[in-house]
Amino acid sequence: MSLKIINAKLWLEDGIYDGGLATLDGKIIKIGKEPSLPETKNIIDAKGMLVIPGLIDLHVHFREPGYTHKEEFLTGTRAAAAGGVTTVLDEPNNKPVASSVEALKAKHDLVKGKAYVDYLFNMAVYGDELDEIEAAARFGIKCFAVFDELGDRSTGMDDTGVLFDALKQIKSVKGLAMLNCRESSLVIHTIKRLKAAEKNTLKDYMSHFPHIAEAAGGAKRVLLVHDAEVQAHLREVSTAEAVEMLRNLKPYSGNITSEVRPDHLFLNQENTAELGPYAQQWTPIRTKRDQEALWRALNDGDVNIIASDHATHTKEEKEPGWENIWRSPPGLPAIESMLPLFLTAVEEGKTELSKIVDATSVNPAKRLGLYPLKGCIRVGSDADLVIVDLKQEKTIRGDESLAKTHWTPYEGWKTIGAPVTTIVRGTLVYHEGMIVAEPGVGRFILG
Ligand code: DOR
Repeated sequence: MSLKIINAKLWLEDGIYDGGLATLDGKIIKIGKEPSLPETKNIIDAKGMLVIPGLIDLHVHFREPGYTHKEEFLTGTRAAAAGGVTTVLDEPNNKPVASSVEALKAKHDLVKGKAYVDYLFNMAVYGDELDEIEAAARFGIKCFAVFDELGDRSTGMDDTGVLFDALKQIKSVKGLAMLNCRESSLVIHTIKRLKAAEKNTLKDYMSHFPHIAEAAGGAKRVLLVHDAEVQAHLREVSTAEAVEMLRNLKPYSGNITSEVRPDHLFLNQENTAELGPYAQQWTPIRTKRDQEALWRALNDGDVNIIASDHATHTKEEKEPGWENIWRSPPGLPAIESMLPLFLTAVEEGKTELSKIVDATSVNPAKRLGLYPLKGCIRVGSDADLVIVDLKQEKTIRGDESLAKTHWTPYEGWKTIGAPVTTIVRGTLVYHEGMIVAEPGVGRFILG
């Protein structure tokens, strides 16, 4: 399988290069001016457009097995390709929860041949199943979700001793600990208070996760990770307090990366006030003050990874939230709208394209230990490529989404800049609004 892209502006590691590239069997084999590129019948004329490395999304919920009425690997990876995402890390909150090698093997066999983009699995860690970590590492799992709450039973991680043991176990297999900045006991306490007071609007819901619970929970984990000498990644940093905490604990966070979600950068409690359950997510939408702090942190590099937390639910499941927000599930679709929103932010001068490419591709690849196989355009790298039209104007519409549920908190938002072509290991998957490949292009990436 060979392919070449001509008339392109290639986003190389040392700057933009006017020319083209050729791929063979999924790898980039040549970068150069057109005449020097090997002959092939598969030619894509980029018409002078920019080609960036495929996005790597460290936080998606594609719901298979167990919740395929919400999303599934075929539809989730389809939406990923439409969003310029070529590799995803899928979350373990399936049914059954992916917390054992047996469950991971079953999930692997279930989704094999259904994906349009490459994928990895995040394994859920339970305090009474720590020995599964070693077995999972042998199966090729690199990422371990160390959350306080997951699925239908406590993980035991709210016990600091158990959490510390889990971190050391992950260290022993050279794994990556995926952590939430969350002092859960304070969050659970706050939710109980809100429910008892029959506070059940979206505005009430947005106060269920106190700012200090994020900063305190995050600080504890930064210090424990430092002492355990384990590689770690902090999920969905959402508050000014947590950003300040990360800045102050920099001396302790050499082996820690942290992520921000597009929702916490583009949405706030004012521009979502009318959305009810369609703006409800587990780490709630925050204030304008938090939003500004997160943009500064992204631009200063204090938060170095962008991840979507694509977490769809059906409208039928969301609707009861209008009457009582605790009756609808938290989570928003995000993977398809992420890149157009960030390209628009670049156009508006809120950030730079280099920050976005670093945070959506380079840094996630480095975090997973996949750089430079992935995360850059270089001879020998996987040909995971996105052609972006920086001038393409669009309006975000839920019913045009390639995900399984057709709604979005960004309904009617105008964007400028969009992915027009997505290539996964040299295979054309998405082109000018259409999926042009068969499912099964995407493959399981061993840790
Ligand atoms: O809002 C959320 N919903 N955040 C998560 O991390 C879980 C997710 C879900 O699975 O729906």
